[in-house]
Amino acid sequence: MTTNSTTSSSFAAWPDRLRRSAIVLMAVMLGLSASVMFGGLSLQHAGLIFICVLGAALVPWSLHHAVPVTDDQAGMRPAEAPVVQALVGGMPEAAVLLDRAGRVLHFNVAAAQLAPALRKNELALFALRTPEIITALRQAIATRESQRATYVDRVPIERWMEVIVTPLLLPTAFGGTEYCILMTFHDQTPLRRVEEMRADFVANASHELRTPLAALSGFIDTLQGPARDDVRARERFLGIMHAQATRMARLIDDLLSLSRVELSAHVRPDTLVDIVPLVHQVIDGLEPLASERQVTIEAEFPNTAVTIAGDTEELLRLFENLIENGLKYGASGGRVAVSLTEPSTNDGSEIRFAVRDFGPGIAPEHLPRLTERFYRVDVGDSRAQGGTGLGLSLVKHIVQRHRGRLLIESVFGHGATFTACFPTLKGAAKE
Ligand SMILES: Nc1ncnc2c1ncn2[C@@H]1O[C@H](COP(=O)(O)OP(=O)(O)O)[C@@H](O)[C@H]1O
Ligand SMILES: [Mg+2]
Repeated sequence: MTTNSTTSSSFAAWPDRLRRSAIVLMAVMLGLSASVMFGGLSLQHAGLIFICVLGAALVPWSLHHAVPVTDDQAGMRPAEAPVVQALVGGMPEAAVLLDRAGRVLHFNVAAAQLAPALRKNELALFALRTPEIITALRQAIATRESQRATYVDRVPIERWMEVIVTPLLLPTAFGGTEYCILMTFHDQTPLRRVEEMRADFVANASHELRTPLAALSGFIDTLQGPARDDVRARERFLGIMHAQATRMARLIDDLLSLSRVELSAHVRPDTLVDIVPLVHQVIDGLEPLASERQVTIEAEFPNTAVTIAGDTEELLRLFENLIENGLKYGASGGRVAVSLTEPSTNDGSEIRFAVRDFGPGIAPEHLPRLTERFYRVDVGDSRAQGGTGLGLSLVKHIVQRHRGRLLIESVFGHGATFTACFPTLKGAAKE
């Protein structure tokens, strides 16, 4: 490749060389003509001399450093060349190219959005006044080494940014080099958010586990001490301890399921599963809870099999979580409607599993946050019902792994509807 480009550049440059030597060649031609006319030089010798001079003018003397010079670039500094401008313009993140004095040579659209005051040929420091950037830029100019700095951009919204200042040596057309400075900006906000969420998650998980654990050890102390011989108290405390231990077990179960689903999030399930019997199985399992809460489950299913590409265990958990939530939080409505519809009976192109309850519903400000881990509208109520606050988060992850959607609709005071939509087999094959 290198050889090719060098060769083609030297060929491409010969008209250019001819143009540059034109004056010399004309002078030689005039001198030779005069010698032929007045100095007695023979025409043959004069022709021979001219051919030698012409050959010398055409030899590519600096083959190894030959840089193709186009008309556009001729007479331009390398940093001003259209190719450099195109590279800066094509960078996906904000990028600004400066000359060695810190003056702006090029910047891209993303950089213009980040610092609207940036102007070509003006000092970049006028537009980028953040102290961290100024220090990094000064150090990069002084040391000619790459510098990194992070800073918080507060306008128009708070963003964590990283700037990388890289001194560059750009080759000039005639074999020299020119110092420039490339500044690239990277938005670190999503990474920071994930870090924060992870920290929150660990804090929440340990808090959720610590509460029942504290209750358990408190009761153990009481049973070993003051209530040692109190049979009735012992029975009551053991009942509470059992409930707390069950809550811890459920929390650990949910945490494990969540991490398992997250780990396999990118692998789409490919087993064909008929979901009708799965929903029946879940409803049967929840009958005792329904009768305890005096809620009737109304089920509406197609008579035929409804097959999707899915993971049986995950789908069971999904159906169970949604129906159980309806029974627990919508109990006051007295009924929960569970339906399964195909594109032929619903107005969309997906298979829809919907759970509708007629309880208190959910206020609109909570709706967007319901699928966050540990988010609960009423923490006390959820705990009292044995909830962990992880159910809907798990549901969302399972639906996403199945390449589906979770819809939550609620009119405050009039119940809530949770719908899991799955692509049909035909729709999945098209993707
Ligand atoms: N059908 C529903 N009606 C009213 N509120 C609901 C319903 N489903 C869920 N919620 C609210 O969403 C919260 C999160 O639900 P979930 O993630 O399943 O956690 P958990 O059931 O363990 O509390 C619940 O604590 C409850 O406040
Ligand atoms: Mg739940």
